[in-house]
Amino acid sequence: MPETIYDIAVIGSGPAGYTAAIRAGQYGLKTALVEKDPYLGGTCLHVGCIPTKALLFNAEIWDHLKDAKEYGIEGVDSRKLNWAAIQSRKTGVVNKHAKGLEFLMRKNKVETIKGFGKLTGPAQNGVFTVNVDDGGKKSAIKTKNIILATGSEARMIPGLEAGDRILTNIEILQLNEIPKSLVIVGAGAVGVEFASIFRSFDSEITIIEALPRLVPLEDEEVSKELARVYRKRGINFHTSAKVEKVEKTKSGVAVTFSAEGKQQKIEAEKILIAVGRKPYTDNLGLEKTRIKPERGSIKTNEWMETDEPGIYAIGDIVLGMPLLAHVGAMEGIVAVSKIAKKEDRPIDPLKIPNVTYCHPEIGSVGLTEAKAKERGHNVKIGKFPFTANSRASIVGEHEGFIKIVSDTKYGEILGVHIIGPQATELIAEAVTAIELEATVEDLMWTIHAHPTLAEAMLDASNSVYGLAINM
Ligand code: NAI
Repeated sequence: MPETIYDIAVIGSGPAGYTAAIRAGQYGLKTALVEKDPYLGGTCLHVGCIPTKALLFNAEIWDHLKDAKEYGIEGVDSRKLNWAAIQSRKTGVVNKHAKGLEFLMRKNKVETIKGFGKLTGPAQNGVFTVNVDDGGKKSAIKTKNIILATGSEARMIPGLEAGDRILTNIEILQLNEIPKSLVIVGAGAVGVEFASIFRSFDSEITIIEALPRLVPLEDEEVSKELARVYRKRGINFHTSAKVEKVEKTKSGVAVTFSAEGKQQKIEAEKILIAVGRKPYTDNLGLEKTRIKPERGSIKTNEWMETDEPGIYAIGDIVLGMPLLAHVGAMEGIVAVSKIAKKEDRPIDPLKIPNVTYCHPEIGSVGLTEAKAKERGHNVKIGKFPFTANSRASIVGEHEGFIKIVSDTKYGEILGVHIIGPQATELIAEAVTAIELEATVEDLMWTIHAHPTLAEAMLDASNSVYGLAINM
């Protein structure tokens, strides 16, 4: 039988890799998807986006029940959390989607190959050889193009090792019980999301963040509002703070850190390290190619092509792009479209939504007010609080606002920053508006259904010109 030569071999089956594989299958390309783990889906599906958002939904229901009387619901005073049931629902959601991915691969005629894929060098006569090692069982596949999508892992504080008390995003999802107290290092997306989940379940939370504010990449006003609400929720946090020592005690951990010019020590049952991620590119055989990783990340051009012709990189391993599932997925589509010679568009970093599922939620796109000014824009701001939105009253969630950063000259929308109910959903309208190069005026003439949270976008755009109706 003649040897199979694939058009594309994708290495890694997270959102970047599986999206690329599905699109390649849709285009009729002969595609292999190589995955070292026994399931498809990567970090996002198994120990990232999906399980954490499942837990956040449990937390949201639990929080609503705390206010049951206000909603005229009685008889739930003796409510109790069943942690095992919460964990098993989360696992159920993950498994359902892992099965779904297997179905999608079959549907699109993508061949999944289990094992660790390793490059052997540049293409010979237009064909690469990828070695695959499945726990000692070795094989090799031939392919005309390679898409690397191997993802990332949690960065550790030097000297610490993850275990039963020192946790990363992986261990924290497997706890047997809710910790009574939890220190979280890092106030990025992972840190503030777990703070939100476990605070809802009554853990004592302390966040330690090196930079001067929570969610430091967001607009400053968003950080300020999150800090206000977190204080109200009883979440402790120290910003501009430096962790100096983490020691194991009899029953937990002791954390020494410096903040506000003085050294402090706190004890807790567990500590979560959420200080960012590092690309997973070790042992991939990159040294046999022209690809020279920079601290593990791989440089690409706007079509996701690396320095080695025929090899593409997508997802968390790409140098200079945000580590987000939806970015990886779109990079997969860009790479496959290039290979298939279909219409293609590069990703514009200013059109990428950033979403954080803490409570209150955060959604943002484009430039912050500070960044817009730094770039020399003459900025005009519109801001509308959810306190003045009728749907927000109905759902009982008044925290937060929508802020629009625009350029004075033509009313170009430079950035939209939302903190509040359903912010992670509401941001989609702003992303579409920016993608279609809509102006503030275009938004002002767009009819928004009433009563909706989305109407706050209409009011926010009107408020750029001092014309908000509901304020
Ligand atoms: P991150 O890079 O977003 O945040 C890490 C935070 O830790 C930063 O604010 C940083 O200043 C701080 N930090 C770093 N070293 C520190 C130290 N020694 N002491 C105190 N603070 C320190 O990383 P995170 O939250 O771990 O998330 C990893 C990646 O996964 C990010 O790219 C994030 O965007 C993505 N992610 C996205 C989610 C979403 O879209 N909802 C959810 C979870 C993660």
